[in-house]
Amino acid sequence: MTKLTGMKIYILRTWYTLVLALRLNTAEDFQWTKNNPSSFYYGTFPTGFSWGVGSSAYQTEGAWDVDGKGPSIWDAFTHAKGKVFRNETGDSACDGYYKVQDDIQLLKELKVNHYLLSISWPRIMPTGIKTELNEKGIQFYNDTINSLLESSIIPIVSLYHWDLPQVLQEKYGGWQNISMINYFNDYANLCFEKFGDRVKHWITFSNPWAVAEKGYETGEHAPGLKLGGCGAYKAAHHIIKTHAKVWHSYNNTWRSEQQGMVGISLTSGWGEPIDPHSQADIDAAERYMQFHLGWFANPIYRGDYPEVMKNYVGRRSAQQGLGTSRLPTFSVQEKSYIKGTSDFLGIGHFTTRYVTQKSFPFLQVSSYCTDQDLAELVDPKWPAPGSKWLYSVPWGFRRLLNFIKTQYGNPLVYVTENGVSEKVQCTQLCDEWRIEYLKGYINEILKALNDGVNVRGYTAWSLLDKFEWNKGFSERFGFYHVDFKNKNKPRYPKASVNYYKNIISANGFPNPREVENWHQKAMDTCSITHQLLDADSLVTHMEMVTEIVLPTIFTLCILISIVLLLFFLQNHS
Ligand SMILES: *[C@@H]1O[C@H](CO)[C@@H](O)[C@H](O)[C@H]1NC(C)=O
Ligand SMILES: *[C@@H]1O[C@H](CO)[C@@H](O)[C@H](O)[C@H]1NC(C)=O
Ligand SMILES: *[C@@H]1O[C@H](CO)[C@@H](O)[C@H](O)[C@H]1NC(C)=O
Ligand SMILES: *[C@@H]1O[C@H](CO)[C@@H](O)[C@H](O)[C@H]1NC(C)=O
Repeated sequence: MTKLTGMKIYILRTWYTLVLALRLNTAEDFQWTKNNPSSFYYGTFPTGFSWGVGSSAYQTEGAWDVDGKGPSIWDAFTHAKGKVFRNETGDSACDGYYKVQDDIQLLKELKVNHYLLSISWPRIMPTGIKTELNEKGIQFYNDTINSLLESSIIPIVSLYHWDLPQVLQEKYGGWQNISMINYFNDYANLCFEKFGDRVKHWITFSNPWAVAEKGYETGEHAPGLKLGGCGAYKAAHHIIKTHAKVWHSYNNTWRSEQQGMVGISLTSGWGEPIDPHSQADIDAAERYMQFHLGWFANPIYRGDYPEVMKNYVGRRSAQQGLGTSRLPTFSVQEKSYIKGTSDFLGIGHFTTRYVTQKSFPFLQVSSYCTDQDLAELVDPKWPAPGSKWLYSVPWGFRRLLNFIKTQYGNPLVYVTENGVSEKVQCTQLCDEWRIEYLKGYINEILKALNDGVNVRGYTAWSLLDKFEWNKGFSERFGFYHVDFKNKNKPRYPKASVNYYKNIISANGFPNPREVENWHQKAMDTCSITHQLLDADSLVTHMEMVTEIVLPTIFTLCILISIVLLLFFLQNHS
């Protein structure tokens, strides 16, 4: 999971009445009348629609240096203090490495059809290169995949959810170096060889936007480099080429035998023009979409970076007196090599922004952010229960899905990430905000299906509360609450577990009465679970008493006895 942008967000205190007014005015002539935010569409999903949940290796596994795993850039980043909220790390996270069976029980409880997980590259290749393999790591993923299949849960496997082997970063500069293409391709081929007989859904990269922008431009994420204006473009360029190479490897070497699919998972918000009658704002919103989603999707589906991106970065580079654009270019051969290299498009989506045209004063300092000439705005009326960037705006999802349909030739889509966080300090299992969010967003997918968008699966993000990158453990995205303070890392179901389970078993939203009933039942069960959790905390407390306090008292008693004994002996000698 990730933030959508490092750009400053303007909250419209005075403008928002205007925003609402605009929305009311245009409600009549929306091409999609059902897109009225208050309307709800009852109905079911197509048969065979796949329901799932996701997670990622670094955020959940822990065991960062166990059984031969090599360090990743996230191990290095979190261990260098001062980068993450409260200096927290993923060293143990949810202890998922030791709890595969427990977590599969949770998946069975949810009755999901698929589980999206990622493989940690340095767990199976400690230094990132194919001459050094870690058999125990390979065994771990092999067993995990087998256990999922035994439970009739389809594994969707991402090869990269951000944990690059640290050695490749240190020695070669990570994604700044074109040689990553071959290292990653070797790693991907190993995964196809070892697991491809059973894994049929592969994701090359999860949210490469964040890898490039947060990792190499703002430095908020590992490896923490601040190469403003160039770093992100270069990293993305190499990632896109790597993705294409891996797709071709699969197509040429493995597809005929394994019959699987290879795609990429792109995360993007929806950008809506603040004033739908202003051409400048419409253009700015279009740029927002092209700089986020189009940056990666356009080369893969249409063979090159979006025109508007080339124009804007090119123009600004020229203003800065640079001989060439900071946005790299693909050769003719590369364009045709990259075009068409995705069997499905994975989509991560969390939130929406209003967008307006904004010219930045000419700056010597260049950045991905100012290259776009736009400002992002939010409506303060939008609910934002958790992460401060994550506003719940369900209608944006339908628009995003329709944008994908028209821009990229109606590709096969799997929703790979969608969910909401909470930021509460004390345990809160009655997550009504998550129920509302899921209900709204999943309903917009149903509407999009009726618009003819080709969505085949939905992955809620995420199974567990987990390490949330630079936010540490302070933002919780899980269906299951994890008590990180307890060394056993117990998991407790939130109310949304019950609700999502009902959506899955009904394959949609059958009728108002039933859907209302789910809500009621979910809220009832969570208050019961809450009482159990309180009882458990008491047990943990008691355990602490027996483990720490009692031995201490015992030791003290012995010491006192010895002193008394010595005293006694002395007096009698
Ligand atoms: C994190 O580590 C840095 C550097 O050691 C230290 O200055 C800072 O106080 C630490 N923060 C917390 C919350 O412990
Ligand atoms: C992985 O599991 C499959 C299926 O059980 C088995 O055939 C294969 O030998 C295993 N591979 C490894 C490396 O354990
Ligand atoms: C890129 O990686 C190669 C090794 O594959 C290395 O020889 C080269 O020095 C690296 N380039 C940079 C700029 O680090
Ligand atoms: C994919 O592989 C098939 C079978 O080998 C081949 O015919 C086809 O040309 C390949 N596609 C691309 C785009 O290379």
